[in-house]
Amino acid sequence: MKVAGPSGRKTVDGHPAPRRIVLLGPPGAGKGTQAQLLSSKFAIPRYATGDMLRAAVAKGTELGLKARGFMDKGLLVPDDLVIAITAEALRSDDAVPGFILDGFPRSIGQAEALDRIARVDSVVNIAVPGSVIKARLGGRRSCPKCGTVFHVENKPSAKGDLCDQCGTALVLRNDDKAEVIEQRLRTYMETTAPLLDFYQKRKLLKEIDGTGDLNEVFVRLLQVLVVR
Ligand code: AP5
Repeated sequence: MKVAGPSGRKTVDGHPAPRRIVLLGPPGAGKGTQAQLLSSKFAIPRYATGDMLRAAVAKGTELGLKARGFMDKGLLVPDDLVIAITAEALRSDDAVPGFILDGFPRSIGQAEALDRIARVDSVVNIAVPGSVIKARLGGRRSCPKCGTVFHVENKPSAKGDLCDQCGTALVLRNDDKAEVIEQRLRTYMETTAPLLDFYQKRKLLKEIDGTGDLNEVFVRLLQVLVVR
C-alpha cells in the first residue's frame, strides 16, 4: 500500500519510506529488477551505472569507447568515469525527492566518493548463492532499446524473442556469456564485497535473501526499508 504522509512523503503501510537507497549484491542478484519495482512504488528515480554505460557504448560516445573493453571482460570500469556519471545524475533535479542506486558504488573508492556527493539513508545487500546467479544470468534476455530485462524461464516476454514493451529483438548481453560471468563474480568478490563491511560499520547495511520469486524478494526488501 502506498499513501502520502502528512508531509507529502511516501509511506509504506503508514511507515515513512527511505528516500536515498543503495542496492548491493553480486551480478544477477536482482538489483535491477528490484530497483525498478522500488522506483515505481516510491516514485523516485533509479540510477543504474551498468545501463548508463551500456547506453554510452551503444551510442559510441567517448565514455562508451573507454568503458566497452572493461565491461566485455567482466572488469570494473575505472572509478573516475563512473563517479563522474553518477555525480551528474545525483545532482539533477530529478534526484531531489530521492534515488535508488543500482550498481554504484562498487569499490571502496566509489563509496568514499558517494559520501562526498550525497547522503544515503539505507543500503540493502541482496544475497544470492553462486549457483542461482549463473542460472539467472545465463537465462537473462535484455532489450537493447528500452532496457527492460527478461528471463527465459522466470520472466519471459509476452512476445517471445521480442521486447513486450517496445517490440525490439531481445539480446544476450556480451557479459552474460559463461566465461565472462566467472570473471564478474571474481571482480565482485575482490572489489565490491568489501563494501558490506564498509556500510556495516556505518550502521546503514541491511541484508535480504534474494532467492525465490521476485515478488517475494520485493516484500522482503520493503520490510527492511521502512522506518518503524
Ligand atoms: P551491471 O549492469 O550493473 O551488472 P551487474 O551488477 O553484474 O548486475 P546485473 O545487471 O548483471 O544483475 P542484477 O543484479 O541487476 O540482476 P537483474 O535484476 O538483471 O554492470 C555491468 C558492467 O558495467 C560491470 O561488469 C562493469 O564492467 C560496469 N559497471 C557498472 N557499474 C559500475 C561501477 N559502479 N563501477 C565500475 N564498473 C561498473 O536479474 C538478473 C536475471 O535474473 C534477470 O533475467 C531477471 O529477470 C532474473 N531475476 C531477477 N530476480 C529474480 C528472482 N527473484 N527470481 C528469478 N529470476 C529473477
